[in-house]
Amino acid sequence: MTRPKLLITGCRGQLGSDLLNAFADRYNIWGVDIEDFDIGDADAVNDAFYSFSPDLVLHAAAYTNVDECESNPKLAMHINADGTKHIATACKNINARLIYYSTDYVFSGDTDRPYIETDTPAPKTVYGQSKLAGEKFIADILDDYLILRLAWVYGAKGKNFVRTMIKLGWEQEKTARDGGIIEPLKVVNDQTGNPTWTWEIARQTYLAIERNLTGICHCTSQGEATWYEFAKAIFKTLDMHVQIRPCTTEEYPRPAPRPKYSVLENKRLQEMGIDIMKEYRQALTEFLTNHKKVLLPCNVS
Ligand SMILES: NC(=O)c1ccc[n+]([C@@H]2O[C@H](COP(=O)([O-])OP(=O)(O)OC[C@H]3O[C@@H](n4cnc5c(N)ncnc54)[C@H](OP(=O)(O)O)[C@@H]3O)[C@@H](O)[C@H]2O)c1
Repeated sequence: MTRPKLLITGCRGQLGSDLLNAFADRYNIWGVDIEDFDIGDADAVNDAFYSFSPDLVLHAAAYTNVDECESNPKLAMHINADGTKHIATACKNINARLIYYSTDYVFSGDTDRPYIETDTPAPKTVYGQSKLAGEKFIADILDDYLILRLAWVYGAKGKNFVRTMIKLGWEQEKTARDGGIIEPLKVVNDQTGNPTWTWEIARQTYLAIERNLTGICHCTSQGEATWYEFAKAIFKTLDMHVQIRPCTTEEYPRPAPRPKYSVLENKRLQEMGIDIMKEYRQALTEFLTNHKKVLLPCNVS
């Protein structure tokens, strides 16, 4: 039996690399990234789609640096909005099904209850606006699509909060061992979200495809945390003895504003009885156990 063809964009990124692993068994996969073609180039996208002719496309490529997007709004719109328009148009041309990964940043974060899929987006950042524009292009161009909104993503590859905390914590432990003076790590404690492991997203994507899910779906690990609580959970799981203290957003200013409360509820997945996203602490424990060797700087030669 011939295997269906799957094209994954952003295959060298955090999520894309786990999507490659999760779908390898059942699909004939072409993973592409910026080295293959720029999604901002409509002709290049179209040529690639016609030549490979995928049945299904997982679109994980994006300009994801939230602070850089804020100072490069044209580039952010070019990649995240126009790039997604090019992908959607190419999917329409060859009749491929599209799954697009969006973000909690489409919401303002000015609420005190989890967002559900029918809540009205009101992004405060250029990144959030560009990803929402991508969502709108898809809904305008295609009938058959799935938009999965993610949040606080981490994985074994690339730069993310978990890796940064482990590196900083490890450096602090080393300073302590060497008899140096310890500066407690300051971590923001007034922003709340859903830390979510890429492998969980890949598993959920797989099931969503099998069940022919369409439209917009929230897809995050359940259980909410502040960055400070998340950092504490990381150090506790790894049995690291790191001095850490909570701080406010004002004490840690960033170029792009961050949502205060951008927790997503997987309401549609739950209603359909197919929410397999694990609670975030359980997923974190599995992630740290599986990837300890590559995550701890002491294990890097
Ligand atoms: N990270 C999060 O916390 C988070 C949260 C919510 C939603 N999401 C969404 O989830 C998806 C995956 O995120 P991620 O964290 O895996 O992202 P990532 O690690 O930054 O990976 C994105 C990949 O896309 C590539 N790319 C960037 N511009 C491109 C272009 N013009 N043409 C082709 N490829 C391009 C990047 O290459 P370079 O590295 O060379 O730029 C990178 O390999 C994205 O759509 C993102 O918006 C992420």
